[in-house]
Amino acid sequence: MKLLSRHRMSAATAVLAMASGIVVAGAGSASAAPGCSVDYRTNGWGGGFTANLTVTNTGDPVDGWTLEFAFPGDQRITSSWNATWSQSGQQVSATNLTWNRSLGTGQSTELGFNATGGTAAPASFTVNGVECGDTDPGPDPDPDPDPSGTLRDHAEARGFLIGTALATGPLSGEASYRDIAGSEFNVVTAENAMKWDATEPQQGQFNFSGADQIMDFAEANGQTVHGHTLVWHNQTPGWVQNLDANAMRTAMRNHIDTVVGRYAGRIPSWDVVNEVFNENGGMRDSFWYQRLGESYIADAFRAARAADPNAELCINDYNVEGINAKSTAMYNLVSRLRGQGVPIDCVGIQGHLSIQYGFPNDLRQNIQRFADLGVDVKITELDVRVSTPADANELATQATYYRNVIDACLAVSRCDQLTVWGFTDKHSWVPDTFPGEGAALPYDQNYQPKPAYQALHDALAG
Ligand code: XIL
Repeated sequence: MKLLSRHRMSAATAVLAMASGIVVAGAGSASAAPGCSVDYRTNGWGGGFTANLTVTNTGDPVDGWTLEFAFPGDQRITSSWNATWSQSGQQVSATNLTWNRSLGTGQSTELGFNATGGTAAPASFTVNGVECGDTDPGPDPDPDPDPSGTLRDHAEARGFLIGTALATGPLSGEASYRDIAGSEFNVVTAENAMKWDATEPQQGQFNFSGADQIMDFAEANGQTVHGHTLVWHNQTPGWVQNLDANAMRTAMRNHIDTVVGRYAGRIPSWDVVNEVFNENGGMRDSFWYQRLGESYIADAFRAARAADPNAELCINDYNVEGINAKSTAMYNLVSRLRGQGVPIDCVGIQGHLSIQYGFPNDLRQNIQRFADLGVDVKITELDVRVSTPADANELATQATYYRNVIDACLAVSRCDQLTVWGFTDKHSWVPDTFPGEGAALPYDQNYQPKPAYQALHDALAG
């Protein structure tokens, strides 16, 4: 059963209830007038619910905030986003991350969580110790402007991340690309710009021009960024591959420290290691593995955690959609390393599918088994290729694949993100990589939505 409810704080006089230890930014200025309003929306299912909160600063600008409230019942937060959340009994607090710490007058920020228990709303909220009232009794501050809405509108209404990979060329050169990228998605991945060959082409010489371009676009559009990728056997310069074991380990740690450190607080999740398995479940015999053995994986996660303790750290791979030798190897490795205290928070299932191979019908079950390990799951690189030129039947089948993938993800509360690997067939890696196949994305070459777009939309809106 789905329950959609929207609760706004009733108009109330802002009462100053200074809680000790809470910083009121702007304190020191005698004229500082605090104020806030909170929009609390829930979307419930059988055993739990997603809550999305819009916190609006109706007072003077703040630089640093803590939201506090009490649950009315035995709700328990199981995962959360866009703030550092903590719960003690019924008391909950959420403190800003670096990227959303400043809120100008009238500015809002979105945060949320998944929880078990009922959807009843807290009776009141405080921000920096000040009780929030609804100072705008008028229309909802973030109404869905069009009932058909964008993917992003519907994703945000349910606390979900819908993403796309972005390439720097079209991002600079094409207005249609920018318009759709900015309006339809709330998280972006750099298709290539954050890979090692782009960010550290020579040892110790870092270049963040492309990475910053993606980052700046995302921030300008109120989007988050999923970092991709730190340690991979592809798109890694020859100088790395030629190092001896000690030097390679040092170079890996330095790379992670520099790249993750640069974006600490701005990139909330990273693909730390990418494609470490063979199809049969063995470890890929990459230069990493040859030189360092399996230990490079734990090392990479530890280095990433040290560089940004708040980032969610993922292991990412392809052909791990269904339950098979490779996904089981991934499951076993994640389970074992977490047992050793290695900071793996998330599993990335790439999702490069082709309709010729059939749909992995146990996708949902596979996502669920990872969730049961206590990690989040993200579909990180979805595309569904068909033979080209594509006909209407193939595009209809493709749409069912998209629908099945997003439905499987939405059915498991720990599956919090679905990213498509590009969004327009005009810019897709598929035709270059899989001869005779293409048309894999939700928009066609002319930026027109395809049935696959409608499938994603309907699932998110449903
Ligand atoms: C691909 C990009 O889309 C291409 O532009 C590039 O030439 C090669 O890499 N798995 C991954 C992605 O993790 O980084 C790959 O991206 C696709 C497969």
